[in-house]
Amino acid sequence: MNTSQPTPWRVPIQKPRLPPLETVEPYLKSVYSSGQFTNFGPLERNLRFRFAEIFNVGADQVALCANATLALAGATGVAEPKSWIVPSFTFVATPHSIQLGGGTIEFVDVIEGRWTIAPSSRHEHGFVPVAPFGMRPDIAGWNEQTTVVHDAAASLGVETDLSGLPELHAVVYSLHATKVLGSGEGAVVIFGNSNSAQNFRTWTNFGFLGSREARIPAANAKMSEIQAAYVHAALDGWKEEKAEWLNARYLAQEIESVHGLKPLLEESNLISPYWIVEFPDSLLCENFENLMNSSGIETRRWWGKGCHRMEAFLGVNQGALPVTESIGVRYVGLPMARSFGHEQFGLIYDALSKRKCECQETLFKTCLREKL
Ligand SMILES: Cc1ncc(COP(=O)(O)O)c(C=O)c1O
Repeated sequence: MNTSQPTPWRVPIQKPRLPPLETVEPYLKSVYSSGQFTNFGPLERNLRFRFAEIFNVGADQVALCANATLALAGATGVAEPKSWIVPSFTFVATPHSIQLGGGTIEFVDVIEGRWTIAPSSRHEHGFVPVAPFGMRPDIAGWNEQTTVVHDAAASLGVETDLSGLPELHAVVYSLHATKVLGSGEGAVVIFGNSNSAQNFRTWTNFGFLGSREARIPAANAKMSEIQAAYVHAALDGWKEEKAEWLNARYLAQEIESVHGLKPLLEESNLISPYWIVEFPDSLLCENFENLMNSSGIETRRWWGKGCHRMEAFLGVNQGALPVTESIGVRYVGLPMARSFGHEQFGLIYDALSKRKCECQETLFKTCLREKL
């Protein structure tokens, strides 16, 4: 039975891809023969060792989770601070997760050009800086004495040695189907110390630690063996996956340079599941988006105009947010997927070239010929 809906777009915004079924099958078979389907089974344990090697940390610093939203809830929930400073310019999962973990939040502004919050410290407060759209998390910028949970949900493609991760820090990565190393749902968290990792694992397992006594407020957020099977298979294919993402990024960069688009990600060898471009003003951004959509190319304002404007967060304290207000209407996400090649990027390229040649209207002339 084919239950997938046909996309109306010639180029959809993303195309989720899991590891090929035949590469997952041996892992799934091992799950069936072990008879352990969840509760920290052998695949989950081995996966912690694999990620420990990737991040150059001890396996006791690594924890796995059902998804990054729950991982952020748990990582902030088991930490000392109960008040957290977060950017408003992020995916809704960031503020949702902290509230889910029992913390209160305050929105602060991001820095122009980097779209993340500036390192600072405040008595009895923790911080959740977000590495936006697959960018490198700024770990070294933050004080070692400050509790920081880095939301690096989309940044698994950035090679990061976390051996020097400060004790009070943790870094959360998502393994969602649309992300790098996409495995369906899942998350990996690296902690600066093994006690926090252990507390986090307790949090993901009803607050149990060696007995059926709930020791802390908790959830069920474990990574199942089925999920772990997909992550193992994704890691086995990591080298090929990386090459595909790099190829897609290269093609996107060609379009950026020919058509004068300003990308968020300037680093050429950085793997990200997003393609974000920025415009000098909102009108130009809207015109560009209309042009793309009318050519069958899907776009998305991934984080809206910032969480502070969303109903769910209207009561949240906030500082002045001028940069968020400004970039919130000037950025747009273009299609990006590791399976995209000349066909998809060619359609985007052609849409821009065609409009540039044909355009008679002053608005588009100004917007797309002169300013872009
Ligand atoms: C910045 C950010 N944080 C958290 C998440 C949540 O990740 P997950 O889907 O694994 O819960 C996402 C997902 O897109 C994200 O972009």
